[in-house]
Amino acid sequence: MLLYNIRKRVWVTAGTIVVVMMIVQAAPAENLKHGEELLIRACASCHAVGRTGESSHKFAPPFRTLGQRYPIESLEEALGEGIMSGHPDMPEFKFDAKDVGAIIAYLKSIQQR
Ligand code: HEC
Repeated sequence: MLLYNIRKRVWVTAGTIVVVMMIVQAAPAENLKHGEELLIRACASCHAVGRTGESSHKFAPPFRTLGQRYPIESLEEALGEGIMSGHPDMPEFKFDAKDVGAIIAYLKSIQQR
């Protein structure tokens, strides 16, 4: 009887761990999707946002190539404070901290080596 109870507890614990892991894994996926949506809305008129495709604006670098020039984290401040430099015909964008996190996570996920 005691052995039975211990086994049951082990299974319940294992089940809880699996459920927690599923929740933890779903959260970053949501975050990436949110980042992608923000970029599509604000930037896709000029930049290629995804893993493939060309930018509509011929001088706008595809986002998947940004990491070749500087670390993606270095964009964090610019996105949060609205100081995007080097955009001749680009309006200024500003995102709140949560959105910046999602955008950075998404950009990291699509970088080419
Ligand atoms: C109206 C067109 C347009 C829109 C909209 C636009 N960009 Fe750009 N972006 C450009 C152009 C053009 C360049 C290249 C500028 C250059 O090289 O002088 C550029 C360059 C960049 C660079 C590289 C800057 C550098 O110094 O290497 C980043 C990062 C960037 N854009 C991010 C964004 C983000 C994030 C958004 C959306 C929030 C966005 N852009 C929206 C036109 C645009």
